[in-house]
Amino acid sequence: MEPAIYADDLRKAYGDVRALDGLSFAVDRGEFFGLLGPNGAGKTTFINVLVGLAHMDGGTAEVFGYDVEDDYREARDRIGLSPQEFNVDRFFPIHEVLEHKAGYHGIPQGEAERRAAEALQTVGIYDKRDTRFDWLSGGMKRRFLLARALVTDPELLILDEPTAGVDVQLRRDLWGVIERLNAAGTTVLLTTHYIEEAERLCDRVAITDEGRVVDVATPDELRSRGTDKVYVTLADAPAETPALDVDGVREIDRDGDTLVVTAGGGGRVAPALLRELEYAGHEVVDLDIRRASLEEVFVDMTRVDDEAEELGVVG
Ligand SMILES: Nc1ncnc2c1ncn2[C@@H]1O[C@H](COP(=O)(O)OP(=O)(O)O)[C@@H](O)[C@H]1O
Ligand SMILES: [Mg+2]
Repeated sequence: MEPAIYADDLRKAYGDVRALDGLSFAVDRGEFFGLLGPNGAGKTTFINVLVGLAHMDGGTAEVFGYDVEDDYREARDRIGLSPQEFNVDRFFPIHEVLEHKAGYHGIPQGEAERRAAEALQTVGIYDKRDTRFDWLSGGMKRRFLLARALVTDPELLILDEPTAGVDVQLRRDLWGVIERLNAAGTTVLLTTHYIEEAERLCDRVAITDEGRVVDVATPDELRSRGTDKVYVTLADAPAETPALDVDGVREIDRDGDTLVVTAGGGGRVAPALLRELEYAGHEVVDLDIRRASLEEVFVDMTRVDDEAEELGVVG
């Protein structure tokens, strides 16, 4: 079966800016997939290409096997999009906006009304159905964008920074709604600046930078590429840093009665570390592993790092 999204060597320039510069990756059906990358990496441009808002200069993009340009209608009808920027008709009650949207995708009026009500209930703003978009609070606007994405009952839900600028409670609410949809079979493509969001929700993530995909992996695989710290507390502070020969250990520092061990994979080195320490006559009273965060690995892999260094923020 064709993947939910297939992108091969996508190219798109705006003047001198190469927004997409050979972008390739695929998203399986049913997956919860994250698109991470610094500002300007090309995430929104990619989404615009998928939904027909931007014309690619080269490459191939397909949604469930339908070419996004040659089979535009087939591809577009399968996508529900919650865009980064608000682009909503402000002059109608929001339930009507949803009914128009459904109608545009070929859904008859009665069914459209039923779906509009259901989508508003799903995101928790059914009681605001007669309100205009302009009069909604910021958080409700985000909820409404999600409802609009859902009104066509899409097979592929695309969320471009859906929780940008919303409070923690709403973020958790929205996560719950999206997780339930994914559990029921909807494929999800999510872009986000909140690395924690990707880590918590996504089966796999693509790290993008400068219009390309740098890497695709599960959040856990990515984290395991970073360096972990293992804190080992000994019963008696050692006179000197023990010299231990353990595979994967990069560095050992001493801080009073605690050894701070830098290692490729904290969980993997811990048993051998304990064995070696006990063999050398030390009594271990506590052990704590702090894994590299996805955020740290992400910063290492993208130019966010270089920019910060240029600005003198780090390094
Ligand atoms: N309509 C446009 N006109 C000119 N430049 C654009 C346009 N859309 C995006 N760009 C540029 O393309 C690059 C990628 O932008 P974008 O896709 O919005 O990145 P992201 O969503 O990852 O932050 C940026 O340098 C941006 O300024
Ligand atoms: Mg964007």
